[in-house]
Amino acid sequence: MALTIDRDEIIGTLKREIQEITDMQEFQNLKSKYLGKKGLIKSLMNSLKDIDDVELKKEYGKSVNELKEELETLFDEKLSELKEKEREEKEKKNWVDITIPGARRKIGKENLITKTRKEIEEIFIGMGFSVAEGPEIENSWYNFDALNTPEWHPAREMQDTFYLSLDKEKLLRTHTSPVQVRTMLKSKPPLAIISPGRVYRKDELDATHSPVFHQVEGLYVDRNVSVSHLKMYLEVFAQKFFGNKVSVLLRPSYFPFTEPSFEVDISCIFCGGKGCNVCKNTGWIEILGAGLVHPNVFQSVNYDPKVWQGFAFGMGIERVAMLKYNIPDLRELYKNDIRFIENS
Ligand code: PHE
Repeated sequence: MALTIDRDEIIGTLKREIQEITDMQEFQNLKSKYLGKKGLIKSLMNSLKDIDDVELKKEYGKSVNELKEELETLFDEKLSELKEKEREEKEKKNWVDITIPGARRKIGKENLITKTRKEIEEIFIGMGFSVAEGPEIENSWYNFDALNTPEWHPAREMQDTFYLSLDKEKLLRTHTSPVQVRTMLKSKPPLAIISPGRVYRKDELDATHSPVFHQVEGLYVDRNVSVSHLKMYLEVFAQKFFGNKVSVLLRPSYFPFTEPSFEVDISCIFCGGKGCNVCKNTGWIEILGAGLVHPNVFQSVNYDPKVWQGFAFGMGIERVAMLKYNIPDLRELYKNDIRFIENS
């Protein structure tokens, strides 16, 4: 029995079929239809056994092999075509337009307390002061005793203290005044320092109070220092910080570590002193406590009060920041609300 292969028809059909292939899956299916285990070539080969004549067998086998090679070539060509298409698609998908401008990133901003602290520092540094630091965890001696506030002293109850030990020896400093003591113990007079930092008091958080807040302490020690020096330095500070028109008022007050002691007001920066809501129609706003260093304080640091005098002050950073930047609620300074920070 003789067998013939219609090569042209097979090739023609495959060429048409192969043209319609668009992806790898279709390609594999078509390829196995022709070249797979149950494919066309296999079944053509299987017919070999039906041919008896050796010469015809040879010829038939040869033409099936030739056909197989032609088919393989067609599939190989299609495979490279598909791979090239895949590569192009991937490239298209991953294409990056490096000429598009980048997305604008927000950069960090200084918290208003830090900004205000630096402004205060700059002003006093400009007047010859240097910056000193002290610990937030204090011994009661530095926070109270050395500041003329012995245990029996009623002023010890003036501020509600966070104690860290039952014997009340360790505490969170209630003011920056202990840095006065630490500085004087370390250095000889004359001196002029400011000391900014965190202080702690048992206060409920509300629009004007916080259990943690910031102060700047000032200490100036020299011979023949008087209240007029204190007033001059505070006036220069207030005018640089709040503006040229501001004036300063000293009102008698009491602190154990100064004598005389004052509450210091500035003329109202909102109404210029005429009287408004903010200054409660007084024309004045309190910004700090101050006074001349008490002789007992000098004694506790071994300065001779007959030779040395000095003034000291303690200012609330939040307080002056709220006034200068017109912030009605202290809590805004700690909330980290991005809308507040961006506008501050
Ligand atoms: N330490 C005082 C306070 O916290 C402020 C002050 C400092 C007063 C220095 C006088 C002198 O209220």
